[in-house]
Amino acid sequence: MSTTPSSDGARIGSFRFVIMLDKFYVTTPIYYVNDKPHIGTAYTTIAADILARFYRFSGIPTFFLTGTDEHGSKIERAAKEAGKSPEDFTREMAAKFSFAWDSLGIAPDDFIRTTEERHEKAVVKFLELLKASGKLYEGVYEGLYCVGHEAFLKDSDLDATGKCPDHKTKPEKLKEKNWFFKLSDYQKVLEGRIESGEFVVEPDFRRNEVLAFIRQGLEDVAISRPSVKWGIKLPWDERQTVYVWVDALFNYVSALGYPDGENYKKFWPADVHIVGKDIIRFHCIIWPALLEAASIPWPRKVFAHGFFTIDGQKISKSLGNVIDPNELVAKYGSDAVRYFLLREIPFGQDGDFSVAKLAARYQSDLANGLGNLFSRLATLIAQNLDGQLPDVVESPRKFDEVDELIQEFRFHDALSRIWEEIAWANKYIDETKPWESAKKNPKLFTEVIANLVALLYEIAKKLAPFMPETAEKIRDALSAEKIAKPEPLFPRIN
Ligand code: MSP
Repeated sequence: MSTTPSSDGARIGSFRFVIMLDKFYVTTPIYYVNDKPHIGTAYTTIAADILARFYRFSGIPTFFLTGTDEHGSKIERAAKEAGKSPEDFTREMAAKFSFAWDSLGIAPDDFIRTTEERHEKAVVKFLELLKASGKLYEGVYEGLYCVGHEAFLKDSDLDATGKCPDHKTKPEKLKEKNWFFKLSDYQKVLEGRIESGEFVVEPDFRRNEVLAFIRQGLEDVAISRPSVKWGIKLPWDERQTVYVWVDALFNYVSALGYPDGENYKKFWPADVHIVGKDIIRFHCIIWPALLEAASIPWPRKVFAHGFFTIDGQKISKSLGNVIDPNELVAKYGSDAVRYFLLREIPFGQDGDFSVAKLAARYQSDLANGLGNLFSRLATLIAQNLDGQLPDVVESPRKFDEVDELIQEFRFHDALSRIWEEIAWANKYIDETKPWESAKKNPKLFTEVIANLVALLYEIAKKLAPFMPETAEKIRDALSAEKIAKPEPLFPRIN
């Protein structure tokens, strides 16, 4: 067993741990390439990057996976509309995701595309295991299908006008021969492991939601579709294409080199799948049941975050309010976008995004808070100590709770805790008035500056997973031979 709970918070290096892990594997959903990356998909990916950076800094072997979901009717149609072959279309769109993540300072260890051969091969192997498990059978699906969700719907899922409430489209009526998976056989084991906490679903209210859904009784699900061409063929029935969700879920193991790759042996099971609340049933019900049938260990945890609106409205192409993260990065910088998203919306809850709120926090928290602290301190050192740092002292303030808050996915609390320290430091400068003591009492001056340097160094360390560029700028400045009056960390924006 690789997890040893420790109530007093064990330490690794300078970090404090709630639970000791011998490795950390975090994933995001793989995103559909029918659309460009937007601020919603960026949100999930940034959160996963923060966790990955936190565990990497702590010295724990870490693997962070993201990627793109490229098969199925939705993508096939989007390619057609764009007048491109699905191969060309998916390649171009996947590149947009890599580009956007890179410009947001997101550094995954791997980026999986479901059209890659390594993925397709692993899916075929997995399906053969499923077939051998005796849990698949041929049947007929007669009912509704929403291409937007790539999901089989029931009448009760529709709105009053008979449309999919999310996509505002009439679902397709299907009557087709498929292969089915006996999901109904897994009700007990799913319920049992979620109740016992062996399989963790967070936040708690999502866990209850999943349990309630399971207790209503689970129906078998189709795992293949005869009418879809763009996808992976069933190895024993070439007329059928693997249902895109089964194909997609398997990315979490195919990317590790399932079944005998080194990364698979080292990193599976996932320590956490981060997902939006929209896809929790796929991750908390179908995925573990499929793994169980194939005798593959389950992920340890699924954490579902909330959805956000933009200026109070649903993000939608037709409303024209889709925000391109690249544009925000070009204007505010990647760290400001990362900071805002995780500071503004408590992870797990729904929230609202607006550019006006981002601009306001940029000014108050970043420019006037952290940026001001940094430039005041650097200026004091440049002007009064000839740019030389005083001898190193211990930070006058400790805030290791931040480490625990990150492990609990309480990113907004972690950031607000760090900002308490920034506020404390700015106040400390106001109260000790070092510009006066510089001449009158050099010993006191040096003491105050040494405290501030140590504290700012600590702040940069805690901030590094959230704002890697800013943290590096601060640490570089504070470890330079000679401190010069610096460029502002967060320049004024017009
Ligand atoms: N391809 C599937 C996932 C397969 S995983 C095996 C899929 N893709 S998606 O492109 O539609 O991405 C859905 C995810 O995007 C959500 O789960 C969430 O992580 C993120 N978000 C999309 N819109 C969002 C908001 N408005 N707010 C927050 N997150 C959002 O589903």
